[in-house]
Amino acid sequence: MKKPLLNKIHLPLLLLCCSALAQDWSRDVEVITPRENIYQLNQEDFYKKVQDGRKVALFYPVTASELLIPYRPLETFFNSDPSDPMRKLIYQMVRSVSPFKSMDELYSWLGVHDFPKETQEENPNPWPELSALEKALPMGATLIKITDGEALTFGCAACHSADLFGVKVLGLTNRFPRANEFFRNGQMVAPYVNSFLFKDILKTTEGERQILVSAKSATKWVGTKKPVVLGLDTSLAQVALSLAKRENDDYATRTFLSARNPRPNKLSTLVADSKPAVWWNVKYKNRWLSDGSIVSGNPVHTNFLWNEIGRGTDLKKLEDWMQEGQEQIESLTAAVFATKPPRYEKFFGIDSIDLERAKKGQKHYVQSCQKCHGTYEKGWDRPLAFTKNKLYQIQTTKVIYHKKTPVIDVGTDPGRYKGMNEFFKDLNRLKISQNLNTVVEPQKGYVPPPLDGIWARWPYLHNNAIPNLCELLTPAPKRVKGYFAGKAIDKKLDYDQDCVGYPTQEKTPENWKLDPDYYYDTTREGLFNIGHDEKIFIKEGKEIYTEKEKREIIEFLKTL
Ligand code: HEC
Ligand code: HEC
Repeated sequence: MKKPLLNKIHLPLLLLCCSALAQDWSRDVEVITPRENIYQLNQEDFYKKVQDGRKVALFYPVTASELLIPYRPLETFFNSDPSDPMRKLIYQMVRSVSPFKSMDELYSWLGVHDFPKETQEENPNPWPELSALEKALPMGATLIKITDGEALTFGCAACHSADLFGVKVLGLTNRFPRANEFFRNGQMVAPYVNSFLFKDILKTTEGERQILVSAKSATKWVGTKKPVVLGLDTSLAQVALSLAKRENDDYATRTFLSARNPRPNKLSTLVADSKPAVWWNVKYKNRWLSDGSIVSGNPVHTNFLWNEIGRGTDLKKLEDWMQEGQEQIESLTAAVFATKPPRYEKFFGIDSIDLERAKKGQKHYVQSCQKCHGTYEKGWDRPLAFTKNKLYQIQTTKVIYHKKTPVIDVGTDPGRYKGMNEFFKDLNRLKISQNLNTVVEPQKGYVPPPLDGIWARWPYLHNNAIPNLCELLTPAPKRVKGYFAGKAIDKKLDYDQDCVGYPTQEKTPENWKLDPDYYYDTTREGLFNIGHDEKIFIKEGKEIYTEKEKREIIEFLKTL
């Protein structure tokens, strides 16, 4: 009798005490060296924790979520005979928002990627071991067990993994996510969902029917917004508009009245879209998001909180889950901090980098970029004995970034940082934020991000406004006014190796021009390609680098 009781009481206490000791999430804690191993575990435990955490990134663990889709009925629907009158009926009801003919079409539209078939040597973050069943759905798609059935949901990897020339990379921005649109469409379908009718047609179990009922209900407290352009995400607006549909109290209580009378919020029109950030920069920073507005607390907690507010979840239930799920949260945190960037030479070959040119580029970088983006020491800086091997020479041997993450206004589009003003108070007021010690403070400007793996992070800036590095080093008024985006499939056609990033203008692949969703128009609100030129590579109105020198900078950046 006594032993289990002891375990029950002491184990969580122990966990609480030691994880709190292992990491300080309070504001202004200084990052002296990159916190790649955030909980300072020994090698063996570290490896295991990170692999566990990668699994959490792939399979969404939050059972408090209510916005779930019963999986088998969805499959039944897509697999049923298209001429079946019942399928036709449902199809007609949801057609305007769901033009898909199969699950694969749905996944493809969502922008989620399949698991790799085999181990890929270029992948910097090895996948955890998974069963064939687990790999059956795309990365990020998750099946949660429910009473007599399974429900579909999406996790971190839906936005934070990408297909880079066939190599699947965890922690790299998904360039074409449609998560926000998915929520928006779901919300439009919800009124048509009659769980009893669906039960008859799709033979749902009682458990599945109940999931449908609670999903339909949860959408009442979800406020959505379609991104201005494919590639950006409106999580910020979704959190703000969802909070506006809840009561103004400690737990943002969900009431029918609050759902019916949302408080006005400027983010319903103001554009504050941004792209999902890469995970390998997190280890260098002590404040989070593109604008550095989260100034304390574990950023992974915030991601759960934001995801769940955006899914209409009861925050008391979420708080309970966060207690139960502590270990999963910790593993995920370890995995996020341990993420590594992919290397250019692994994709394009060692001969694709001109060493002499890169070394010259480093000098310009030190002069014009280092003070904001950090110091990159290279293999070639080390004593000669070590540097014969070119592969070694181009490696980064040390990165020195700011001890306190700065926020700087370099004149880039202000929409995203301004957007934070519209709902930070609602966030800080929440009991759950206070218990987690998460504090949001609006900023003026953006964090100059570390440039690790920058070659793989195109298009550039928080709002994707700049298609490649040649354009980044072009004065704003002379930059292209728009560009077509496209998937990274063919290294020669879909990527400009000289300019690093999207091929633009006459180099744009013809097939990219067929789909207007992929056109980025820099003249639209929130999509401006201004800034990051004056006082950086323009002094007193004059450019300080020649074309040749700019190429040298880019060559250096390829090696980061
Ligand atoms: C719907 C897409 C989406 C999902 C799902 C998502 N994120 Fe994000 N994430 C974003 C966007 C967009 C940003 C950047 C927002 C900004 O800073 O403007 C971001 C930023 C982050 C950052 C901050 C990085 C930095 O440099 O400060 C971390 C860490 C992160 N996400 C982790 C997660 C984790 C962990 C999960 C799963 C629990 C998750 N995200 C789920 C879209 C998503
Ligand atoms: C005064 C500080 C400052 C200097 C100097 C500076 N940058 Fe930046 N840089 C920033 C900030 C801030 C951002 C983020 C802007 C945004 O996202 O809107 C940024 C963004 C970038 C990005 C895009 C990152 C991404 O993830 O999309 C690249 C690439 C970049 N800078 C390269 C350079 C290079 C190369 C130099 C030197 C020629 C340089 N920067 C000099 C502040 C600076």
